Amino acid sequence: MKKRVYSGIRATGRLHLGNYLGAVKGMLALQDTHDCIFSVVDLHTITVPYDPSALQNSIRDVILDYLAAGLDPKKCKLEIQSKVPQHVELAYLLSTIYPVSRLEDLPTYKEKKAQYPKYVNMGLLYYPVLMAADILLYKAEIVPAGADQEPHIEVTREIARKFNTMFSSTSSGQVTFPEPQRFETEGQYVPSLVGIGKMSKSVEGTYINLIDDLDTIRKRLASAPTDSGTSGGELPKEGPIAQLFKLLALFVQKETYTKFEQDYREGKIQYSEMKEVLAQTIYKELEPFRKRRKEFGENPKLVDSIINSSLEQCRQMAEETMAEVREKMGLA
Ligand code: TRP
Repeated sequence: MKKRVYSGIRATGRLHLGNYLGAVKGMLALQDTHDCIFSVVDLHTITVPYDPSALQNSIRDVILDYLAAGLDPKKCKLEIQSKVPQHVELAYLLSTIYPVSRLEDLPTYKEKKAQYPKYVNMGLLYYPVLMAADILLYKAEIVPAGADQEPHIEVTREIARKFNTMFSSTSSGQVTFPEPQRFETEGQYVPSLVGIGKMSKSVEGTYINLIDDLDTIRKRLASAPTDSGTSGGELPKEGPIAQLFKLLALFVQKETYTKFEQDYREGKIQYSEMKEVLAQTIYKELEPFRKRRKEFGENPKLVDSIINSSLEQCRQMAEETMAEVREKMGLA
């Protein structure tokens, strides 16, 4: 039997390079060998300020980007989280066995609290429990996700373990939930364009969208900070220059990278030249993506039928787990 995989992306609009290399490439590799469900986690999206009138379009954009990136509905299932109501039911049930104090300590919660001090809502605190429910609802064992998600996956394991200890003995004695592991994808850390951190949809100016045309990519790269380029010496290990070189390493051939590294060392690097090479390489790499994105965009009926049949299967699987959980918790 193939191992079950679950992963989700928040519906904050189109996918960017960071999503692509950080999560989607891992998804592509897994769909051939595993039983995969890839979701648009819209209920996670609304824990921070958002525009309700734009949400449906954002969800659709992620689905279209999934398909354009090469996720194949014949090989994997595509899900929209809120369309499978069992997520919320399971999240609530699991929340009753998990301590608030652990949730308050999570780095992601603290970050969001600092980012939106006037928007510290219950949903934000509850975020990791809902994520655990996403994964456990399908008894997934493998979760392709960035390193920043490791604390959440650890929470998921803790919840699974606790549930298994507290409730599993009732019927068959078999454990209910497997403990999931994060799946590492190559090149998963995609540096942002502002000189610090990684590409993130929620921070303007940090990312390149998969659908961007060459000029847009050029413009986005142009605003990435550099220096005079004349100091020479060893490449810095962190900071804007290091970030730019890390990005370069993800896309260009080794020789090209080495040339620019050499230029830097000798204090004669032309960042405009380096950015142009990078822009062209990124644009070229995304060509098949843009082509498929256009095809699916022009065929909404096909996309609807893909989503509907996929959701139908997801709901069935979800309901099986819920029946088991309700029974084990004494609710049925
Ligand atoms: N928290 C994830 C992120 O911000 C998104 C997510 C929600 C997720 N549920 C999930 C990822 C389940 C993997 C599995 O990227």
